[in-house]
Amino acid sequence: MLIAQLSDVHVRPTGQLYKGVVDSNRMLGDAIEHLHGLDRRPDLVLLTGDLVDEGDPDEYASAVEILGALTIPYLVIPGNHDHRDNFRAAFGDHTYLPARGPLHYCIDDYPVRIVALDSTVPGKHHGHVDGAGLTWLRSTLEENSRKPTIVIMHHPPFVSGITYLDKYRCIETETLEAVLRSFSNIEAVLCGHVHRPMTRRWAGTMVCTCPNTTTEIALQLDPKAEPRSYMGPPACMLHLWDPAQGLVSHTSYIGKYPGPYSFF
Ligand SMILES: [Fe+2]
Repeated sequence: MLIAQLSDVHVRPTGQLYKGVVDSNRMLGDAIEHLHGLDRRPDLVLLTGDLVDEGDPDEYASAVEILGALTIPYLVIPGNHDHRDNFRAAFGDHTYLPARGPLHYCIDDYPVRIVALDSTVPGKHHGHVDGAGLTWLRSTLEENSRKPTIVIMHHPPFVSGITYLDKYRCIETETLEAVLRSFSNIEAVLCGHVHRPMTRRWAGTMVCTCPNTTTEIALQLDPKAEPRSYMGPPACMLHLWDPAQGLVSHTSYIGKYPGPYSFF
């Protein structure tokens, strides 16, 4: 199974730019074209939050229209820039989304089970999973504790070393970590939010954050650094699952680059 991951696509109303400078809508279109052009077609695309920038219905209308070009099935989870009810309304035909409350769900139609955890806190930029969410997570994982499983959530649960980002991570994660650690079939926890690729061993599994289709948040490890973002090579992730080999997560850069060259 090949699972593509796009994150933080920050769609704007048609004709408007992200941060006033970046055509995030066109870049989502480019990302879709990139996935269609891969030499192996992904079986599934995960969009791990911040589908739009301000949570407005006209942004969601653009997002749904652009994603309409995607010929691969896709799953969505919200991020801190999403508005939960506008999100739910926009993706009304995504019948896996619960009708009310946080958008936790489980998809069990593939060789890898996808457990989606809504880490958003309405009106806030940091993430948190409350007691009810953790209860849902434990019981969902207990339903099938042998099948390879990927957990997706927008906010990474770890301190990255980029101080201005860390304020907005998923906080109070001790119980979440304990729940995940009690299962041995979690292949990875896949996140977005930080607009950079990062990996960390956590809760007995691997946490992996997805690079961005639009802008990169600057990699600054000085605790006093001011927040900045830049244009960088847009990218997505391709998570290749094989029962014998496990899950291998590749970063896939979007765009045309010189080559190919001879291998040796
Ligand atoms: Fe985010």
